[in-house]
Amino acid sequence: MSFLADIEQLKQSALAELQAAVDLAALDQAKGAWIGPHGKVTALLKQLGTLPKEERPAAGKVSNQVKQELETAVAARRGELELKAALPKEPIDFTLPGRRRPLGKLHPLSQVTEDIVRSFRKIGFAVADGPEMEDEYHCFDALNTPADHPARDLQDTFYLTTEERLLLRTHTSSVQIRVMEKQPPPVRIIVPGRVYRRDNPDQTHNPTFQQIEGLYVDKNVTVSDLKGTVEFVFRELLGPETKIRFRPHYFSYTEPSFEIDFSSALTRKMGREWLEIAGCGMVHPQVFETVGYDPEVWTGWAFGFGIERVAMIRYGINDVRLFYENDIRFLSQF
Ligand code: DAH
Repeated sequence: MSFLADIEQLKQSALAELQAAVDLAALDQAKGAWIGPHGKVTALLKQLGTLPKEERPAAGKVSNQVKQELETAVAARRGELELKAALPKEPIDFTLPGRRRPLGKLHPLSQVTEDIVRSFRKIGFAVADGPEMEDEYHCFDALNTPADHPARDLQDTFYLTTEERLLLRTHTSSVQIRVMEKQPPPVRIIVPGRVYRRDNPDQTHNPTFQQIEGLYVDKNVTVSDLKGTVEFVFRELLGPETKIRFRPHYFSYTEPSFEIDFSSALTRKMGREWLEIAGCGMVHPQVFETVGYDPEVWTGWAFGFGIERVAMIRYGINDVRLFYENDIRFLSQF
């Protein structure tokens, strides 16, 4: 038989065997048997040199085509077998129920914050923001809290070892100043945010906690505006029966100043008629002077309260530390 006929026959057998390989090992074996160094096709190709000179060009050309064709066939079969190996061995039962991924939820403190923000938005308040790493000026001086005020005691907050004596803000009231410095009145903002104090953690204290600050500046603003606003928001948050009362208090950046107590079915459940919830007052004229607002023209009120406190009352939680432990058994209840 001629060389060309031989090679054509070998090719057909090789293709059939490669195509029949049932797995990758069988394929590798077939590949070796045909086009490996000791393969049958390889052996035939080695005979090229023994052909008469005039037959060699055509035979060489066909040989190259055959080699190429067989290599392509190996690659194609390898692709099929690899895909087959990757598919699941067991048949799939499409009637099985789907696997549910547990859906995450907002942290209870975030839920309370969002509810409070939503209530304030309804009455035209915008959310403002400020740095947690604050300077003494915005945290204290500008809020009419002089250097000898106890709130500035080293024990009361965390000072950072920077040249400008930065500190972790002790309250969100610093953002009142930052907002008023930047914009002319009127102002209607709330500021949810994290604050820091040098407290030892216990049932009702944690060195990091969250507050919401409110600031309203306009002409002819009065305490009754403050009371009405606070009442509206707390009734939305804790139910329509909620009552609030103001008790005289002292804050250096408001005059007069009050503490806000509230009373509801929730406080009674905790064994108390009234629970203290916030500090507030009419913005002190000195604060307006400091930020460049004319205290003869502008009036305003401000308040600040702790979000944890509200959340504890709302959900009947008796230990503030539960909010920070990230125990999924606790968090998944909200
Ligand atoms: N900054 C006060 C605190 O952390 C709360 C507060 C009281 C905020 C009176 C105010 C205010 O804006 O007017 O305890």
